[in-house]
Amino acid sequence: MLSNRDLERFARHGVHLNLDTCSALRRWAALRGRCPRVGLRIDPGVRVGWGDHPELAYGDGKFGFDAGEGIEAAAYAASLGLTVDELHVHAGWGLQESAAPALAAVFARLAALARAIPTVRTINVGGGLCARQRAEDRPLALAAWAGLLREHLVPTGCTIACEPGTFVVATAGVLVAEVNTVEARRGGTWVGVDAGHNVNCYAAHYGIPLTIAGVARPLSPPTAVVHVAGNINEANDVFARSLLMPPLAEGDLVALYPAGAYGASMASEHCLRGLPAEVLV
Ligand SMILES: Cc1ncc(COP(=O)(O)O)c(C=O)c1O
Repeated sequence: MLSNRDLERFARHGVHLNLDTCSALRRWAALRGRCPRVGLRIDPGVRVGWGDHPELAYGDGKFGFDAGEGIEAAAYAASLGLTVDELHVHAGWGLQESAAPALAAVFARLAALARAIPTVRTINVGGGLCARQRAEDRPLALAAWAGLLREHLVPTGCTIACEPGTFVVATAGVLVAEVNTVEARRGGTWVGVDAGHNVNCYAAHYGIPLTIAGVARPLSPPTAVVHVAGNINEANDVFARSLLMPPLAEGDLVALYPAGAYGASMASEHCLRGLPAEVLV
């Protein structure tokens, strides 16, 4: 959903784009000085993101041409004077072992499309690799992912590009917050902290749990079930419900992790709380 302002800026800087609508192809082609080569973003056609959350599914959604429309889209681009030199897909976030068969089908479709569009030189497979988010998670292993690339995409002779985000940086970040409230209410204990979903939206937006540990005594055994709530005026601003935690007191620091991906980059000034300070160690 690129505006003409966006496109003009990319053209000015000589950026190569992967585009995913006929509208963008048409408006890009009409711009003076734009790169004459483009990529096409293809809808993976499968729903393989972490958990069952629609927020994490990329297939059959707003991103990209259907694989079956790829040849037609390339012909349309050619009619506008553009050469399609790349195919792009981002299958989903937080890929698990169980996603391997669906991912194999995505890569096979992409390979077939690359063979059908002789100008394609690069196949970009996006991101999706992750570390364990919950103890029971079984992330797709790097070796298994590489095996799928080797089997399906290497034989095309194209360069394989990727855009890993989470896999590279998620575990490098920790959100440290201060416990400001410990309150028994309606049979439960609420632990309030001085950060909210404006600082890290994993729990509120995606329903993805973060690990929460006491900073001073991270290995203390859990003793109580608590709800950990943020400081934003929204009912869904809760980091965890019914979580087994060691004793926590007002003034203690807690660490929430992994917080190195989609944390600060998605932070907002909701409720005028301001943006979190970031410290690089
Ligand atoms: C097009 C595209 N590429 C790469 C990424 C990075 O994905 P990840 O953080 O799963 O590695 C995303 C994330 O949304 C994306 O939309």
